[in-house]
Parts: sequence; C-alpha cells; structure tokens
Amino acid sequence: MHAIGVDIGGTKIAAGVVDEDGTILAKTRRDTQPDDAGSIDRAIAEVYAELREGYEIGAIGVAAAGFVAADRSGVLFAPNIAWRDYPLRDNVRALIGSDVPVVVENDANAAGWAEFRYGAAKDVEDMLLLTVGTGLGGAIVVNNRLVRGAWGVAAEVGHMRVVPGGHYCGCGHEGCWEQYSSGSALVRDAQAAVVAQPDRATRLLELAGGDAARLTGPDVTKAAQEGDPLAIDLLAELGRWIGEGSASVAALLDPALIVIGGGVGAAGDLLLAPARKAFAEQLSARGHRPEAAIVLAAMGNDAGIVGAADLARA
Ligand code: BGC
Ligand code: NA
Ligand code: ZN
Repeated sequence: MHAIGVDIGGTKIAAGVVDEDGTILAKTRRDTQPDDAGSIDRAIAEVYAELREGYEIGAIGVAAAGFVAADRSGVLFAPNIAWRDYPLRDNVRALIGSDVPVVVENDANAAGWAEFRYGAAKDVEDMLLLTVGTGLGGAIVVNNRLVRGAWGVAAEVGHMRVVPGGHYCGCGHEGCWEQYSSGSALVRDAQAAVVAQPDRATRLLELAGGDAARLTGPDVTKAAQEGDPLAIDLLAELGRWIGEGSASVAALLDPALIVIGGGVGAAGDLLLAPARKAFAEQLSARGHRPEAAIVLAAMGNDAGIVGAADLARA
C-alpha cells in the first residue's frame, strides 16, 4: 500500500508518496507560517490533492514537531508552533474530503523510525535518534519498538533540564537541552558572538550580509568549513552539548547507536568529533562497558516523510 508522508517543519512542509520499501515515488513542498496553524492544515490538504494524482493512497502520516496525543489524532502542545490541544487529524480530514486514514506522529519519532527501518540504525535493536533543528527532538527504539510512553509523549529529550536557571525555552521552562543543542541555539550563540567578539566575526557577518540578525545555521557551517575559527568553535560547542546530553541519555537507555539528524548534520565531523569526545568524557563506567557509536542520519531530509508514511500504514 502506498502512503503519503508529510513532514511539518518550522517554515515549510515537505511531503511524498512512499511505497512499502520506504522509497519516495513523488515529492512536493509548501511554505507555511509557524504562528498560523490553519495555514499548515491547508498546506497539508494541498499536498495531498497534488500527490494523490496517479497513486492509490491508503493512509496519510503527518509528522508534527510537538507533543502528539497517544491516539495520534493531534498535538497536545508544541514549543515552537502555535498548536495547543490541536485536532490536526480532524482538521485535515475535513479539508481533504476523503476518508483515507490520517495519522499524526511526532516529527522526531517519524525520522527515527525511518532511520531504524531503512537508514543508519537498520542493523541495531536499540537506538536513540536526535533531530537537531529549530528544536531538539528525540526518538527512542528499545527492543525494535518505538517507545511511546503512557500518553504518547515519551522521548521529548529536548526538554530535559541540563542547566538550572539556564536559557528560557518555548516549553515554558528554563535550561532545557534544546536551548543548547539545536540549530536555534547555534544561531543565538553565533549572533551573540558577532556582538561580543567582532574581531573574530568578520566572516560570519559578511555571510549574513552585514546584519547579524540575518545569520543562519548554514552560514555558520559554511564559515566553519572554510576554516573560520569562531564558526568552528560555535559548532564544537554545539557538538559538546549534544555529546554530554547523550551520555546522560545513555545512562538511562543504553542504546547501541546514537543517530544525529537535522540540518546541522551538514557540518559533519566539525560537529561529530566534539560530540563523540564529550560523550566519551561524560559516559559513566567508561572503559568497563561497550560504548554507543554516534553517527549521522543516513536519510537526510526524507526521513520524516518516510517514517510518517510507514507509521501511518502500520
Ligand atoms: C518538540 C518536539 C519535537 C522537537 C523537534 C521540540 O521542541 O518538543 O516535539 O520533536 O522539537 O522538532
Ligand atoms: Na519524539
Ligand atoms: Zn523546554
């Protein structure tokens, strides 16, 4: 059976028709606004109308960046999108005028499921996936099963407190891991560095067109790849937070593999080497236990689409 997977990001949605082997047969996208939940509903209906042409579609899986209800009908709460007790499934079904099943999944769970079934984690039974983007998402697979928790909202690792009294988070608390291990954290720190260390920030400022407020994560990665010392430091700091937090998660779960997804993966070893170093330094019982490897996700931007489609079919 073919299913459509829809991945809702901060500013765009990407969707595709996916077959049972996890192959994307057709793909499309739309721009959306995170502060306008209705625009997201309508965009999902539009991509469905476009993609269903020429395919028989048995289910629609929607990957959403938020706390998804256990019955997979909608989003209870989202730190970075305007969803509060939001009936996403019913809204979409009303718009598409079809009785094809619609299933909502957490975006990181969808990406993690795709990496587990078809990607970087296909040979392990226990894994942690982290998506490092606007927020920090998590997916946990234990004994070949996605861990959902009692109410559907397990693996919200981005909201574990890592710094008492630390940065304010969109979830309403302070010091969440997401505030140190996300693309948003990288950009926040890069913008602050442009002000605090102007002598070291000439290349970053140039890439931002002279306006620090327009600096992006990809700008930092580009500068670092060129050898810019400040950008290298910023990515190393992000990697350090990812690695240290992962060591805490390993104390809880003992995964065989930790998979890093999201846009900052493009930085490759500039991010991974510091993450691996910090993970090793913080891992308890080190030297007396096998260690999880930290690797990049293999499915890139397609993971959310493939995982959402696959979970909707199941
Ligand atoms: C949200 C998660 C989401 C993650 C990545 C976090 O802020 O709480 O539900 O998976 O961002 O988008
Ligand atoms: Na999750
Ligand atoms: Zn939080």
